[in-house]
Amino acid sequence: MTADFVVVANRLPVNKQTGADGTVTWTRAPGGLVTALAPIFDKQAGRGRPGKFDTGAWVGWTGSADSDDDPQVDGIEIHPVHLSATEINDYYEGFSNSTLWPLYHDVLVKPEYRADWWQVYVGVNRRFAQAASAAANPGATVWVQDYQLQLVPAMLRELRPDLKIGFFLHIPFPPYELFSQLPWRREILEGLLGADLLGFHLPGGAQNFLTLARRILGANTSTGPVGVRADFGTVTLPDRTVQVGAFPISIDSAGVAAQASTEGVRQRAVAIREELGNPKTLLLGVDRLDYTKGIDVRVQALERIFADGRLDPADTVFVQLASPSRENVESYARVRDVVERTVAHVNGTYGTVAAPPIRYLLQPVPRDELLAYFVAADVTLVTPLRDGMNLVTKEYLACRPDLGGALVLSEFTGAAMELSESYLMNPYDPVSTDDAIVAAVTDDDAHRRRRMGVLRDQVMHNDVDQWAQSFLATLAGTKPGE
Ligand code: ADP
Ligand code: G6P
Repeated sequence: MTADFVVVANRLPVNKQTGADGTVTWTRAPGGLVTALAPIFDKQAGRGRPGKFDTGAWVGWTGSADSDDDPQVDGIEIHPVHLSATEINDYYEGFSNSTLWPLYHDVLVKPEYRADWWQVYVGVNRRFAQAASAAANPGATVWVQDYQLQLVPAMLRELRPDLKIGFFLHIPFPPYELFSQLPWRREILEGLLGADLLGFHLPGGAQNFLTLARRILGANTSTGPVGVRADFGTVTLPDRTVQVGAFPISIDSAGVAAQASTEGVRQRAVAIREELGNPKTLLLGVDRLDYTKGIDVRVQALERIFADGRLDPADTVFVQLASPSRENVESYARVRDVVERTVAHVNGTYGTVAAPPIRYLLQPVPRDELLAYFVAADVTLVTPLRDGMNLVTKEYLACRPDLGGALVLSEFTGAAMELSESYLMNPYDPVSTDDAIVAAVTDDDAHRRRRMGVLRDQVMHNDVDQWAQSFLATLAGTKPGE
């Protein structure tokens, strides 16, 4: 089967469950990128509001090394790309998450530049491009997602010059000074320039791309001298132009708000507070366990705040819901150690056996349960050292029509651009971090409610559907490639 609209992402929006008798069932999966795209995809695929496209397909990896997986889920035509254990090691854990991820996140850990990983990244990107080509109708629109697949746009254009190709980067795009470390910087830029439209979360990322295209490709490309011009949101190539713009992603705001307001979720929120001993203040963190998220930053801040007597550990509980992530990558194991040692130290020092001030869970939490925590929290702590957007922030705001709660938000998230009424903090500055947390807890209710009102309006009026429509409308307006 082929489709008019094809999403190409590293992960398929599916979860695999194997029963006791060995039977396999597939369900649609939540999670960062998938959460962002699934509601749009339903509409594009013809459920809900009729979209511009009659048929939709999703090309991606199942998430395991099993080569015979053939996932089927309701409403999405699935085209699996199978990865071997070596490819998972070199393309996913290696080049994607030990080279590109740290390089694009301010070099928080040192990126590893390995030619063998690069070769596998090229090969896997080619397979994704071939699968996308096989899934797309003549003249179809193909939307390629994220840093794992930056070579796909050019590879796909070579196979299928008839397609409209969009690319969106879900993580930050770094400045020249960092990106130019990459031994394969030219190849990555050329890969991206296969698209008709390149989207970033923030204008700064788009600007970084334009500067890099000019400085690195300006003189010539590997295919011959071309004189790339890059200005005013456009890269001009000899035979076509590529548009470059900012499209800040959001969530299915109304959907999240509706789910959070169900009786079951609301009752669970009350029960959560009771289970925690009805503390005066319930602080919350929700993240993949990733060194970019600043989980260590917030736990260390709480330690100082308790030590300084600014909050009382006897009536304060901090719940950290952490989801295991990329566990074979060493830098993830390292941050886990730091977080777990600090949690144990704070609890050992400031808790009682019956009532430790920090509750830490290293398991993904079911969706209803997660939303119940958002409803229950007095303050949510979002303290990344760098984050492309941070959807947790927006989910929390959508869950709070009561305008209760408060948001502590790192300036180093994409979300901070839109959410300046939050308690903004600099995670590199302990004074700023501690002050923001204490203010979010102790400010008077009227002040907190006013700020939550402004923040929540922003999220409810800018949802993921608008994000997708705006990207796709811009893509539709681009001139077809030759
Ligand atoms: P990232 O994409 O880097 O993981 P985001 O904040 O943009 O960060 O998106 C994370 C997504 O994963 C959100 O939808 C969030 O609700 C979900 N999530 C994060 N942590 C957990 C957890 N512990 N349990 C369940 N879902 C989680
Ligand atoms: C971020 C990335 C996504 C990725 C997600 C989960 O949101 O931008 O591309 O899918 O994290 O990470 P994982 O490595 O588990 O896919």
